[in-house]
Amino acid sequence: MTETVASVDLDKIISLCKRRGFLFQSSEIYGGIASTWDYGPLGVELKRNVKDAWWKTMVWGRDDMVGLDSAVIMNPDVWRASGHVDAFSDPLVECKSCHQRWREDQLEEHKCPDCGGELTDTRLFNTMFKTFMGPVEESASVVYLRPETAQGIFVNFNNVLNATRKKLPFGIAQIGKAFRNEITTGSFIYRTREFEMMEIEYFVQPGEDEEWHQRWIEESVRWYTDLGIDGERLRVRPHDPEELSHYSKATSDIEYHFPWGWGEIQGIANRTDYDLKAHSEASGESLAYFDAGSGERVVPYVIEPSAGVDRAVMSFLVDAYTEEEAPKASGGTEQRTVLKLHPALAPVKVSVLPLSRNERLVPLARKVYDEVRGSGLVQGYVQYDDAQSIGRRYRRQDEIGTPLCVTVDFDSLDDDAVTIRERDSMAQERVPIAGLSQALATRL
Ligand code: GAP
Repeated sequence: MTETVASVDLDKIISLCKRRGFLFQSSEIYGGIASTWDYGPLGVELKRNVKDAWWKTMVWGRDDMVGLDSAVIMNPDVWRASGHVDAFSDPLVECKSCHQRWREDQLEEHKCPDCGGELTDTRLFNTMFKTFMGPVEESASVVYLRPETAQGIFVNFNNVLNATRKKLPFGIAQIGKAFRNEITTGSFIYRTREFEMMEIEYFVQPGEDEEWHQRWIEESVRWYTDLGIDGERLRVRPHDPEELSHYSKATSDIEYHFPWGWGEIQGIANRTDYDLKAHSEASGESLAYFDAGSGERVVPYVIEPSAGVDRAVMSFLVDAYTEEEAPKASGGTEQRTVLKLHPALAPVKVSVLPLSRNERLVPLARKVYDEVRGSGLVQGYVQYDDAQSIGRRYRRQDEIGTPLCVTVDFDSLDDDAVTIRERDSMAQERVPIAGLSQALATRL
């Protein structure tokens, strides 16, 4: 473990997120609602960039993958067949004194962590959210909010196969919201009741599943490290047999070292043929694959890399958060906070800063800003920032992780050039305004 691992303070990150518009407590003016968060102007860019980076690697970057966007509310028979109605439960205990409820498997001792009171016996609590479809609130109209996006993929297996003519092995990817009525939540956006998932169901020939499981564990870890996550803060942890979900033959979690310790950010499960068989039996429609080579129908095995978008966002934020000493223009040093986010994830790619609001500088700075924004070469959000001193603006941009700043100064009026300042090294380089967008795109 590196020294920085221990020194990251979650409260500082939460405070930065609120102050700079990454995340707000949901319904804040009404006192909020437990563990529910809204993504602000910068958070929404970061989250979109995380999902885009994942889609780019996992779908566009491969020739064995297609996408899907299935509904949140599905026929409740889906959840009966998948085993979720019977088995998607957590062990619940309640304190007999203060009536606080806890997840029994997360307690170190069998007593209330708040008041030390005696706990009730454990009962299983199904964490699927229920609601009613249509205007009648009766048992016949109960539907569920999906607790995973995976089932939308399984029940569309034949549709996707017929539409795409994919051959084994191939995968279907989906990004979308999931809902779980968690008994305990907390640690900012780590465990919430509404969250987003990035899931792949990868269909393989039975017998090739173990090899593909291993390959997907490696691919998945590489995605995080390619986007800048420190490999020392990641580990792969295979599940003990008693931990496995009802559908899994083997699962490994990718864990990140958060300020409070190791926490799961992604699971990679070998779901075998459990789901396709269960839906075939329950629906009466065969979800099998015709293997032209052997002339036989096979029910594929499934490897499932399943990542939480919000947990990925949180691990990128924690990993990028850095405090360091930086030289001041007036001499000496000062502390600066920098989000050293990978440029592909940074919410603002480039910020254009006129040295001051001087009336001679502003038209040129605006022109540069419009040119960079409109060029199509810099992919992402470009900002114009002219409030406060240039030093404070650099600090502000560092704090939100902007990889490049472009400064328009009085020399720019004569030499048609501007300064590009790089976030991490703080190195500055003079470049001609003609060709600026290309120069920025190359650096990003
Ligand atoms: N389809 C497989 C599946 O749902 P999971 O391990 O239960 O597997 C996958 O969930 C990922 O979803 C987790 O690794 C985590 O990143 C994220 N996740 C699960 N529950 C969450 C919650 N309550 N809040 C935020 N993210 C959650």
